[in-house]
Amino acid sequence: MILLGIETSCDETAVAVVNDKRQILAHHVLSQMDEHLPFGGVVPEIAARAHLDHLDGLIDRTMREAGLTYDRLDAIAATAGPGLIGGVMVGLMTAKALALATGKPLVAVNHLEAHALTARLTNDVEVPFLLLLVSGGHCQILYVNDIGDYRLLGQTIDDAVGEAFDKVAKMAGLPYPGGPEMERLLPQADAGRAAHIRLPRPLLGKPNADFSFAGLKTAVRQYIDGRTLDKQEQADLSLAFHSSVAEILIDRLKQGLKQCREQADFVLPQRLVVAGGVAANRFLCAALEGFCAKQGLEFTAPPVKLCTDNAAMIAWAGIEKFRRGQSDNLDTAARPRWPLDKGTKK
Ligand code: KG4
Ligand code: ZN
Repeated sequence: MILLGIETSCDETAVAVVNDKRQILAHHVLSQMDEHLPFGGVVPEIAARAHLDHLDGLIDRTMREAGLTYDRLDAIAATAGPGLIGGVMVGLMTAKALALATGKPLVAVNHLEAHALTARLTNDVEVPFLLLLVSGGHCQILYVNDIGDYRLLGQTIDDAVGEAFDKVAKMAGLPYPGGPEMERLLPQADAGRAAHIRLPRPLLGKPNADFSFAGLKTAVRQYIDGRTLDKQEQADLSLAFHSSVAEILIDRLKQGLKQCREQADFVLPQRLVVAGGVAANRFLCAALEGFCAKQGLEFTAPPVKLCTDNAAMIAWAGIEKFRRGQSDNLDTAARPRWPLDKGTKK
């Protein structure tokens, strides 16, 4: 089984061809970073226009590289939400047009489900598992009981963790996206000085698995106090921020595990999977790995290039659904909001 996958829900135009033997036959991610850089964040209208400009050419190029004609595809998968609606519509409409022209079925994919299932493409992990989904738009702990069966254990009550990275980086005078920029500075940080930057750990010890990053962001703003930070200060702040985030993630995961133990119909997960753009962070992954070792959990983080937005994960989620007999009508609508625990069948 071979699927074409299309991803356009944020600021990456991505296309991939993947088969059910877990092979990525071709895969491209076009970043629009340069177009959004002057604005310090993603501008929805610019994103939608850029997807429109690049998507057709990228599909052609990806199919050529995979060495396939359209008749070899079994179905066409595209992100149908959640995300920036203009971009999602560009990708979904293109997939519908291709499906119509080639007579192949359409599979509408939930972007979050695609992040959640990436570890099955890259590491062939079995369900159930505990999932920490951490990206620019999402911060959730889910119990993945089966494909299409996701139970929400906790989520952010304000910012997503990637968003917090991006905003703190901007305050510190670093470019967008902030997560990788802050991580890059870690080797230059002075641990002693970083320890003196007192940042809070919101919701620590609270008896649910929810997250909050607003207070942490405010504390960073107060610490910076309108100054222009030099390189050393940026690095020290970066370490202090990473340490706080790591502690928060681990504490919330402890609560998530506790909820799993308390739910009668949950098989206790043997594995933690981390997904989403922030899962590319090696400092945080090392901390999570240490936590898993203590808890007796296996730990899986997909390779960095498949943690951030890509279309291989969309094609793969399409395969997971399509081989269970699921496909979608051509009148399927794009959804700006589409919570994972409310069902992923369109
Ligand atoms: O999953 P993703 O590519 O897009 C969304 O669906 O949001 O995630 C992008 C987010 C951005 O906020 C970015 O700053 C963050 O992931 N990110 C990182 C790293 N790489 C990307 N955060 C921390 N460390 C990184 N290495
Ligand atoms: Zn994403």
